[in-house]
Amino acid sequence: MSGKRTEVAVIPGDGIGPEVMESALGVLEAVGADVEQVPFEVGFGRWKRTGEALSAEDLESIKQCDCVLFGAITTPPDPKYRSVLLRLRKELDLFANIRPFSSSRLDLIVVRENTEGLYSGIEVLGEEECRTVRVITRRGSRRIAERACLLASRRRRLTIVHKSNVLKSDILFLKTCREVAESLSVPHDDLLVDAAAYHLVMRPERFDVIVTTNLFGDILSDLCAGLVGSLGLCASANLGESRALFEPIHGSAPDIAGQGIANPVGAVRSAAMMLDWLGQAEKARAIEAAVGRALEGGVKTPDLGGSSSTRQVTEEIVRQIDSARKI
Ligand code: NAI
Ligand code: MG
Repeated sequence: MSGKRTEVAVIPGDGIGPEVMESALGVLEAVGADVEQVPFEVGFGRWKRTGEALSAEDLESIKQCDCVLFGAITTPPDPKYRSVLLRLRKELDLFANIRPFSSSRLDLIVVRENTEGLYSGIEVLGEEECRTVRVITRRGSRRIAERACLLASRRRRLTIVHKSNVLKSDILFLKTCREVAESLSVPHDDLLVDAAAYHLVMRPERFDVIVTTNLFGDILSDLCAGLVGSLGLCASANLGESRALFEPIHGSAPDIAGQGIANPVGAVRSAAMMLDWLGQAEKARAIEAAVGRALEGGVKTPDLGGSSSTRQVTEEIVRQIDSARKI
């Protein structure tokens, strides 16, 4: 790298987004992350204030940064409002959504195609009938399968999740994923998405790396979040060829926003995934280890059955980082 410091576009967003972002930034500081923050006011709040959720200038500035750290943004069900996250994923071509889940019973990664499928934005809205076009391309399927196989080749195996018996567009997805897995000699199998949901609940240990289309990945990853105990624990990376955005998988949680009780762990882990991607792997591991010790020590927000606040959990993670450094 040149002498320029690594610039991270910081998008706190709406609802609990700013609350968990504050935690993530505090933990990054505690671990001595070598990053320069570039803050952006983007989201529903901005839309209500200015009529624009994400301006073209902001988008250009975000593209100039090395990567994005994202909190959460409210998306109202309003046909005039375009989801900021979907726009960022498309504009930055962040085609691979990597969502790791682990607990005592499971250790798996959902690799979700992030730019096409039912979220391609091709919709016809009428009073009596509405249509959403599901786009599956060979190129899109191939590149997500390659990312998933890269992960699976270092682990156990790949499971391709689809619905090709009913959605004929998934025949291309399944066929392409199989071809890629075979060409890279990655052990693989496949499941229909409904069966996959059932097996995830009944036998989660059966899964290692799952590759799937956009909507199925969205739904199955919240199911996995339930299996590990809370949406608030889970982090994700949205990766393109050279760009990346890191975010907790939860949304803006308006039901608990402003109460200071949001679980910051998903956002903190997203910051750790970012450091790993930026080549600061040791600091990423220090954060992960500190989070693990903080949770084991019983400092938990209400979603995990505890009574700690967002701030208390953050302080405990920072304390764990500091005490590990002294050893
Ligand atoms: P949500 O993920 O915001 O919340 C679902 C449930 O999980 C709520 O009961 C919430 O209180 C709880 N929860 C979520 N994160 C938590 C945390 N960190 N700590 C403790 N509890 C937590 O999903 P919901 O309610 O369906 O969506 C709310 C808004 O967020 C909507 O406008 C939606 O469009 C948006 N959204 C944004 C996402 C993003 O920015 N990446 C992702 C998902 C939803
Ligand atoms: Mg979701």
